Amino acid sequence: MDQHIVEEIKANLDIVDLLSGYVELKRAGKNYKALCPFHAEKTPSFIVSPEKQIFHCFGCGAGGDVFTFLQRYEGLSFPEAVRALAERAGVKITRDSFSASGPGRLRKTLIGIHRDALTFYREALGRERRATEYLKRRGLSEEMIERFEIGFAPFGGGLLDFLRKKGYSDAHILTAGLCKETSGGKVDAFRGRVIFPIINVRGEVIAFGARSIGDDARGPKYLNSPETPIFKKSSELFGINLAKGEIRKKGYALLMEGYLDVITAHQYGIENAVAPLGTALTEGQAKRLKPLTEKLLLVFDSDSSGVRASKRALSMLYEKGFIARVLSLPEGDDPDTFLRREGREAFVGMFREVKGLVDFYIEHGGERVDTARELIYIISKVKDGILRSDLIRELSEKTGLSEQFLREELLLLRRETGPPMGAMQGGAPRLSAEMLLLGLYITYPEYAPVVKEGISPEDIEDERVRRIFEKLYSSSAASLKELTSGLEEQEMSVVSGSTIGLEIDAEEVVRNIKDCIRSIRSRRLRKRLKDLELEIRLAEKRGQSETVSELQGRMNILIKEGVDEGIL
Ligand code: UTP
Ligand code: MN
Repeated sequence: MDQHIVEEIKANLDIVDLLSGYVELKRAGKNYKALCPFHAEKTPSFIVSPEKQIFHCFGCGAGGDVFTFLQRYEGLSFPEAVRALAERAGVKITRDSFSASGPGRLRKTLIGIHRDALTFYREALGRERRATEYLKRRGLSEEMIERFEIGFAPFGGGLLDFLRKKGYSDAHILTAGLCKETSGGKVDAFRGRVIFPIINVRGEVIAFGARSIGDDARGPKYLNSPETPIFKKSSELFGINLAKGEIRKKGYALLMEGYLDVITAHQYGIENAVAPLGTALTEGQAKRLKPLTEKLLLVFDSDSSGVRASKRALSMLYEKGFIARVLSLPEGDDPDTFLRREGREAFVGMFREVKGLVDFYIEHGGERVDTARELIYIISKVKDGILRSDLIRELSEKTGLSEQFLREELLLLRRETGPPMGAMQGGAPRLSAEMLLLGLYITYPEYAPVVKEGISPEDIEDERVRRIFEKLYSSSAASLKELTSGLEEQEMSVVSGSTIGLEIDAEEVVRNIKDCIRSIRSRRLRKRLKDLELEIRLAEKRGQSETVSELQGRMNILIKEGVDEGIL
């Protein structure tokens, strides 16, 4: 990505201007306030600073610049947001501006083919009674057929000719996976099947799911498009284009197993439902959801494969920073059958019985200690220290195992899997010393040497703050303007949160910086001492006396250093 383009776009856009098209901004002193569009709230904690050209929500922690806003709001990638804002800012971009965007032309063609193919399938649906009757039998309303743009691939084919007439080459049609080569020549990939278009978050048709309509039909129940340059099954979710608004509004997404489940859910007014494409939930799919929400409700079969799938999904999701719960349906039901038989009220009523990570594992686990170990392993991967701590407490309450024991086990695992990571900031208005120091560093770059002398990135406990300091220290960029592009979303949020509310008298800056440094160093030292203490206790339990004395030696050195420095 060409940095000049990014700067030029920013220079030509005003964040207040842009955001007022999305949220209702009210003046509040130097800044503007609004209800946050990224989480549900009744009093505004979403702040926009015209001076700093950033936004930040003190409720949910979302924050950043114009690009971050558009990325999050529209679910766009950074290059996509740049493209969209370039237009608005009247900045011309060439393909060279996107060093990493790849072969854009092929992508465009393939998406065009899919759109045109969908037109063909949609028209074909109206001409085939067996198809419309099938959909009727499944209970799909006209409205849902329209909204999900459901079509039909005729028994006799015809798509290939249609696309050729539109001017597409056979090579492109084959690459799109809509036709295949057989000994008898090229034939349509889908025939005699109801077509569910798979549409990405930007509304582009990128693949199809195709269900046979006769029970006697040959071949599998569902056929999906093969992997193509525009379709990677493991990173797409069915229904995301229609569900994104409601996911953001409700603050969570429902994850179901099948196409029909999602469509029926929407028909019953549950519009934050999406589904993977016939596989277990993958990291790539979780990534798609991340800009929209970090809370998921998994709706799975309660049979043993459903339980296994839920456990795998939970473990992956907690590692990736999500909070997930599981709704188990009665055995033999999927959301589609359940909703049609029992109705919306009954379905929503089941939400009261959803199980969190700990409960779900206990309910579907074996021996208490084995379950605890499985859970500790998952918890050890959770990056948010507060959540980790909450989960350990819950695990202790529900298994009767002592918290102390669980924490020791956790510590051991975290030692094996890498250095301990810091507690995550909840985006509270009162800044931690680390955040405050970051804000000071960015706002008053002239004092950077003082900060650099007192703190190295390893001293920083909050992983996100630490990463930003690493970037700052290793580049010449210190000011907000230079820094914001090239940061990840989480990092943006830290930057905006640490700077947006910062108001300090010029003569107080140095004193504040020094206070922060002392407090960070002191906290880090205390933490290291506490860790050592635990290690010593563990080593004692195991009778490793040599280790014990080695650790004790290390502890004494640290204590002396702390006392000398005056931070203990
Ligand atoms: P299900 O068998 O639960 O299908 O598979 P479903 O969605 O409930 O469909 P109906 O109600 O029988 O029509 C769940 C998902 O697994 C994938 C599809 O994505 C389906 O929605 N699947 C299933 C396949 O890809 N191929 C198959 O042969 C079957
Ligand atoms: Mn079904």
